[in-house]
Amino acid sequence: MRGYYTEETNFFGNTNPKQLLEKYGSPLYVYNENILRQRCREMKSLISYPRFRVCYSTKANSNVHLLKIIHQEGLHADAISPGEIVFLEKAGFKPQEIFFITNNASSQEMEFAIERGITVSVDSISQLKLYGSLNPGGKVAIRINPGIGAGHSEKVITAGNNTKFGIYPELIPEVKRILKEYDLKLVGINQHIGSLFMDPTPYVEAAKTLLSIAENFNELEFIDFGGGFGIPYRKQEGQDRLDLKALGQKLDEIIHGWTTKHGIYPTFQIEPGRYIVAECSVLLGTVYAVKQGYNTTYVGTDLGFNVLIRPAMYNSHHDVEVYDENGHPVKSGEYQDTTVVGNICESGDIIAKNRLLPPIREGYILVVTDAGAYGYSMASNYNNRLRPAEVLIDKNGNDVLIRRRDTFEDLLSTFNF
Ligand code: LLP
Repeated sequence: MRGYYTEETNFFGNTNPKQLLEKYGSPLYVYNENILRQRCREMKSLISYPRFRVCYSTKANSNVHLLKIIHQEGLHADAISPGEIVFLEKAGFKPQEIFFITNNASSQEMEFAIERGITVSVDSISQLKLYGSLNPGGKVAIRINPGIGAGHSEKVITAGNNTKFGIYPELIPEVKRILKEYDLKLVGINQHIGSLFMDPTPYVEAAKTLLSIAENFNELEFIDFGGGFGIPYRKQEGQDRLDLKALGQKLDEIIHGWTTKHGIYPTFQIEPGRYIVAECSVLLGTVYAVKQGYNTTYVGTDLGFNVLIRPAMYNSHHDVEVYDENGHPVKSGEYQDTTVVGNICESGDIIAKNRLLPPIREGYILVVTDAGAYGYSMASNYNNRLRPAEVLIDKNGNDVLIRRRDTFEDLLSTFNF
């Protein structure tokens, strides 16, 4: 049995899971500032080409306090909605540091960005026309579908022949016609082939495709290869990390070749979400019931899919660490087949299926790792449950509340009575 990630990283700093749950309640999202900063720096040094920037993909986690740290680290950001733009502004991002990558946006949503001077990317001919009618003579970016997709689940592969995203390369003459009709300047092209690759080949291939498409346009200020950089969710099995050094070198080679061939030096950017925030967070929950099923031991917790939906939605794996009621890690005893479930009224409410875990008792604390990306941001109030609080372990190891738990008043506050 390998060590626990939370021990190896001194994740909880000057506190421990028991103290955290006593202070802030269960379940609880806990973030580690040092790890977050480290991931930002790794992405910033991916490519050595001087005009390179990293746009953090806000959808992965939009906690304003985390966004502030990401901004301090010098990252830009991409947004998919006005709501994300509002949070980015609150965290201090300037309009020129925000990239609005739309999908089927309304005219009001586009105007929201246009009024602020935020660059908008559109991903269909109809949306390009809509943008042109709202902002004739303006600047725009388009999202290309390079025909190559990648990702951990069909639901998150966002390029290739079976997805709603991006403009197909065959439509470039049509794009040019519309740009002319509305006197638009095409300042950027972007793509995002999907979420979570550990093998960089499709990303590199898609980057080459995008560069060959870029040759059609001569006013480009930036070229954006997208996000999708994977993290090892199976740390307990010793899964390797993505080889960023090799990937960065490959991208640098391609960029160098392309820029020297054409004699133009646009900005290159990427859009990582998961890589930045996944590993800086764990989710804590409490065991309330242990039940011997026919084939597995059910451990009943407050970690329903309202709190973390990834396992129920995509069959995603998150490692589970066991801590006792005093906040000490448990690694001994006879390991048994265990299925960790939540408190939601559906049988699919499973957070970890058939895992070999040490014996678990009522009152124990479970730590679900790598929960920072698409964890809280996809949490809901299903079953009228309250979304958890979020706590940051700051760089000195001290715990700080960065978002309180929902209250019943919050849930009732949207009604007209
Ligand atoms: N750029 C665009 C245009 C995107 O749509 C996304 C993610 C990203 C960048 C960031 O991708 P990342 O680096 O985080 O892989 N909820 C799913 C993931 C959905 C990803 C949606 N788009 C999950 O929990 O795995």
